[in-house]
Amino acid sequence: MTETQFTPRVFSGIQPSGNLHLGNYLGALKRFVDMQGEDYETIYCMVDLHAITVWQDPARLREKTREVCAGFIAAGLDPEQSILFNQSQVAEHTQLAWIFNCIARMGWMQRMTQFKDKAGKNAQNASLGLFAYPALMAADILTYHATHVPVGEDQKQHLELTRDIAIKFNHDYGVDFFPVTEPVIGGPAPRVMNLRDGSRKMSSSDPSDMTRINMTDDADAIAKKIRKAKTDPDALPSETNGLSERPEARNLVNIYAALSDLTAEQVLTEVGGKQFGEFKPMLAELAVSKLAPISTEMARLMGEEAEIDRILAKGAEKARTIAAPILQQTYEIVGMVGAKQG
Ligand code: TRP
Repeated sequence: MTETQFTPRVFSGIQPSGNLHLGNYLGALKRFVDMQGEDYETIYCMVDLHAITVWQDPARLREKTREVCAGFIAAGLDPEQSILFNQSQVAEHTQLAWIFNCIARMGWMQRMTQFKDKAGKNAQNASLGLFAYPALMAADILTYHATHVPVGEDQKQHLELTRDIAIKFNHDYGVDFFPVTEPVIGGPAPRVMNLRDGSRKMSSSDPSDMTRINMTDDADAIAKKIRKAKTDPDALPSETNGLSERPEARNLVNIYAALSDLTAEQVLTEVGGKQFGEFKPMLAELAVSKLAPISTEMARLMGEEAEIDRILAKGAEKARTIAAPILQQTYEIVGMVGAKQG
């Protein structure tokens, strides 16, 4: 089967756990919004079932699910153009995941580095869900016959597993049913690092709030965090190789570049030779102009819980119209009596 038989369709998921920060915005939300348009049908999912593979407080899970939804819309996602929903409301994901549990091999799953990292030393005490996580992720993608999946570098192995599952399913049942999905990795999105330690990723779990810019931060907080970000005493170089041993400087240049849709090279042509005393206010102004309107809109939406829930419910309904026939055809292929032809 050639890939052209599938509608170009983008699917991606984001876990509603932790605060959304600049790393999520530049690495995920902004890219997802940029893919919305003529070329693809776009489907974005808050993967609440993935979140509970490690314990989540129920009230906080609800709040974070709505917060991610608000973040998507505030960042420019149009719920009329893209499908926006939370995973648990479309049962086809878990139904297809079971089929994929029976396709994926133990050996494949045991190789997953994210499981090893997250389970840590005490793997015997990890949930079975955490181990099966990548099969559910494959189901998320393939229950829409998604062809393109924008993700971060850390999800590459899970996408390769998704491809392996599609290939083995097609092979075992002698069909050309599931597409072999293309990962859309990297692109202009930088790895956004901790503002106080350029060797670590920006993270919602760092105890210090000064290490990150949250998508809910207002203009003052954004400007203050940039003003206080760690730097070094040297002037900015005019070429990127001058940043190789300067992780904090590189991070701020990368953030400037991503927020202004330029490359780091282009930014350095403009700011090379400047001291941080001059560059930081430029970055603060840019960050405030791009991010403060998003946090203001997020705050407004978070006050409109019913509106968010309505958007999610409508999204789930639209998602189901794509997912249900694909699941029914899968059941038919596998030999389940009672399955209607899709
Ligand atoms: N595992 C992804 C992450 O942690 C989230 C995710 C779940 C996902 N299902 C997906 C991403 C399907 C892309 C497609 O970032």
